[in-house]
Amino acid sequence: MILHKSEYEKIDRNAPCWCGSGRKYKQCHMAFDDRIRKFEMRGIEVPKKRFIKTPKDIEGIKASAKINMACLDAVGEVIAAGMSTEEINQIVHRVTTEAGAIPAPLNYEGFPKSVCTSINEEVCHGIPDEKIILKDGDIINVDCSTIYNGYFSDSSRMFLIGNVSPEKKRLVEVAKECMEIGIRAVKPWARLGDMGNAVHQHALENGCTVVREIGGHGCGFEFHEDPWVSYVSRPGTGMVMVPGMTFTIEPMVNLGKADIYEDADNGWTIRTMDGKPSAQWEVQLLVTETGTELLSW
Ligand code: MF3
Ligand code: CO
Repeated sequence: MILHKSEYEKIDRNAPCWCGSGRKYKQCHMAFDDRIRKFEMRGIEVPKKRFIKTPKDIEGIKASAKINMACLDAVGEVIAAGMSTEEINQIVHRVTTEAGAIPAPLNYEGFPKSVCTSINEEVCHGIPDEKIILKDGDIINVDCSTIYNGYFSDSSRMFLIGNVSPEKKRLVEVAKECMEIGIRAVKPWARLGDMGNAVHQHALENGCTVVREIGGHGCGFEFHEDPWVSYVSRPGTGMVMVPGMTFTIEPMVNLGKADIYEDADNGWTIRTMDGKPSAQWEVQLLVTETGTELLSW
């Protein structure tokens, strides 16, 4: 058996706690670290210590999220048929930079715009363009991510343009319910796979499918940090959810089959293989001692 040193190994009981509370370790996070180490010893995946957020970090993420949500609110006020997705990009860019923040997508691995806009059969990572005009009956996901004082926030919403077919409306509702069920399944010391399975079951019960290849992610110190979050997972598997973890719930729900492909020309936009519509809502949350707290929505 290979024994490796745990990141959660006991430190001096009387030393100040690593969380910055100013209290002694034994009166603060010692029992917490013990609990994580017990999971680790059972071979269960645990978060890296550097991704556990302190109260100060949470304040930083919330300040970033406030700007992120202001972008989505601003888009929501004006989005309508006849508008180009480039106009959405400009709103997000303006609201973000006027608040002294940086749009996280811009130049991220070469992404050319400040927000992702994905219409109908586009699953995610749609690139805003002045030639893409919203039309009556479209459904669109606007996915915003912000960097403020080094802290990352990330959330997305769906918007219905004019008269949307009952089928697409229902898909948008099911995708929202999937996200809400995911949020409710996040419980401290439960497993990520429990959450993903709950999301998946709800989609299947409603005749929809969930994208397998793209999921959620830890978010806070980096745009995409550990863990990778699946919404098609088995219960009792995956990382243990530990208070202080921050990650996204963002299942991509398809009306048809789960299969997707990437646009070969722009290298970004993901679409459903069968051309049927896809919907996604995204929140960023914090695992707390008692449940969850939403950070960005
Ligand atoms: N905002 C997306 C997410 O939820 C990531 C977009 S990456 C980009 O994870 F480069 F396309 F912006
Ligand atoms: Co995300």
